[in-house]
Amino acid sequence: MVRKHLVSPWLRPVPAHTAQAFAAVRDAVETSTKPLILDSCCGTGDSTRYLAYRFPDAQVIGIDKSAHRLQRYRDSNTHNCMVLQADVNDFWRLAVEYGWQPIRHYLLYPNPYPKASQLRKRWYGSPAFPSLLALGGVLTVRSNWPIYVEEFALALKIAGYAASRQTLVDAAGITAFETKYAERGHRLLEMVCDLQQPLP
Ligand SMILES: C[S@@+](CC[C@H](N)C(=O)[O-])C[C@H]1O[C@@H](n2cnc3c(N)ncnc32)[C@H](O)[C@@H]1O
Repeated sequence: MVRKHLVSPWLRPVPAHTAQAFAAVRDAVETSTKPLILDSCCGTGDSTRYLAYRFPDAQVIGIDKSAHRLQRYRDSNTHNCMVLQADVNDFWRLAVEYGWQPIRHYLLYPNPYPKASQLRKRWYGSPAFPSLLALGGVLTVRSNWPIYVEEFALALKIAGYAASRQTLVDAAGITAFETKYAERGHRLLEMVCDLQQPLP
């Protein structure tokens, strides 16, 4: 599936709502001199706010498709942080088309879609995977499901990238889901891949 997606461009038209969301931030991103950090599927945006504090010289954009989750976003009072509602399947493709080059990209606690029949819904099994790769930057994925992290790393290897994996011990959650599952005793796994450094 990964190999198929790597060679077949995804031709699904971009819906108007995501095109509008992209257009609304495009100027701000393209005129900014700050490096860009994307927090895709940011949920309530806790991690977006955290990243804005951690990287004060960057411009951090959180993206989620759920208006309900985004409504719970608490503004950060930082100048370098925003969240917006969009479907990243389409947002990523627009960002690639317009030459965005985030230095870091976070995918924290993505929906696991654990059934085998749902593989295409996981980001590495999705037709959006090539756009995620094309955006580049240092990609960080966190999950409590080991298979998700292992398969993500395998998909990256198929695409020509090396990823490191580690278990975060006693890490403070930076998202609502991380915090919720840490409280239930789940281990938090992290995968990091520098998409600027393809394997030789
Ligand atoms: C398990 S939640 C994790 C949210 C947050 N990162 C956290 O850890 O608290 C997964 C999030 O992905 C978002 N999501 C799923 N598919 C998406 C898509 N195609 N575009 C944008 N957001 C999406 C959902 O709305 C949801 O907020």
